[in-house]
Amino acid sequence: MSKADALVLFGVTGDLAFKKIFPSLYEMAKDDRLDVPVVGVAREGWSRERLINRARESVEAQGGQADSTAFDALAQQLRYVPGDYTDPTMYDRLRAELGGAQRPTHYLAIPPSLFPVVVNGLGASGCAQGARVVLEKPFGRSLESARSLNATLHSVFGEDSIFRIDHYLGKETVQNILFFRFGNSFLEPIWNRNYVDRVEVTLAESFGVAGRGKFYEEAGAIRDVIQNHLLQVVSLLAMEAPVGPDLDGFRDEKVRVLKSIRPPTREEAVRGQYRGYREEQGVAPDSQVETYAAMRLFLDSWRWQDVPFYVRAGKRMHVTATEVLVTLKPPPQRRFSGREFDHREPNHLRFRMGPNVEIALGATVLASGQRGHTENVELYACRDVSLQTEPYDLLLGAAMAGDHLLFARQDEVEGAWQIVDPLIADPPPVAEYEPGSWGPDAAKSLIASPAGWHNPVAAD
Ligand code: BG6
Repeated sequence: MSKADALVLFGVTGDLAFKKIFPSLYEMAKDDRLDVPVVGVAREGWSRERLINRARESVEAQGGQADSTAFDALAQQLRYVPGDYTDPTMYDRLRAELGGAQRPTHYLAIPPSLFPVVVNGLGASGCAQGARVVLEKPFGRSLESARSLNATLHSVFGEDSIFRIDHYLGKETVQNILFFRFGNSFLEPIWNRNYVDRVEVTLAESFGVAGRGKFYEEAGAIRDVIQNHLLQVVSLLAMEAPVGPDLDGFRDEKVRVLKSIRPPTREEAVRGQYRGYREEQGVAPDSQVETYAAMRLFLDSWRWQDVPFYVRAGKRMHVTATEVLVTLKPPPQRRFSGREFDHREPNHLRFRMGPNVEIALGATVLASGQRGHTENVELYACRDVSLQTEPYDLLLGAAMAGDHLLFARQDEVEGAWQIVDPLIADPPPVAEYEPGSWGPDAAKSLIASPAGWHNPVAAD
């Protein structure tokens, strides 16, 4: 795997570059890991100085005052090529700016509808020669469009040169699901339909579409985060241990999980829209796009048959938190030594993936000095009160080094579309919900648990 000798950022004036990519490049510069030119490309007729200022604003918006040596190291690498993505001369100017670079990595932080235009432009101009391409999710809008995008990509790039980003795979907390599952032997005997009652995965955000109304109108919660981030999390929770040490063994097992998931019916899903969404900029006044979605999934497999996996995601929810709760079946005996348990909470495993990090085991103990009363406690396997670090510098570095481990393979992407495609084609109606709530009431009846959904608490 040869290392990239230039990084090209399409969409460098956009939101993703501002929020995630510049801060990551800055982190790389700070650790002396940014030793290649970074060429920004966008439609705006900016100068290089303006791009450098934008990078500075981005770094400061994320972390306060930038360290001047590190920032200078970043600024020194920045170049800018303005132009229309449909204009062939723009790619010629890019080729010239790349100079002698033999192995550029092209990062497409642009609306998905522009992926084919840019990929073809890169191919026709020779910029794709020896190059890699990194694509932001969502990869396609449906199974069919994902396949057609893949065909376009393959007409220009080999599979080894394609990196499909799902930034959840770059999060340490998400990777920790794997390490916790396969790095310990105590979990395996209970990690199945005999002991697990249900699994809940929640991605709640207290903020709304935050200026991305136009993008959101094309996406909605199912395409934006369930088809990718949350189904990746489900795969890691449910997969078998990979066979053999190679990368494909790992991805094969994830694909097997996706293939085992029965696409939810309309009755197994709820869509919601927060009150006020239709007044957001770029949103249609009669929009039917969901800002919340919840679904009940079943996996047809020996390990997971009949165990419901409840998955939900929403904007303008009560808190911002991404959390998994795996609830075990209760113990069979409720009474012993003439006493009845006063606490009936079954054991659970809780994986908190953002904004802070926790893995906890919920257990029942005798409450000290309480004369036989019990209490529910959590034993922490890990607990980090600091906020989750951004995964983008890890992902950028991996793509530039040609390491595919943290990227989605095409069959994973297709497997995930296969699950949500029927719902997207024939969606249940959207129900309005109050900002700051836990979503529409209809979602309550999806879950077969007397306690209802597990609602994560806010970070301290
Ligand atoms: C992005 C979505 O992929 O993930 C956003 O487009 C969402 O809508 C974000 O807010 C959530 O990521 P994180 O890392 O903040 O949980």
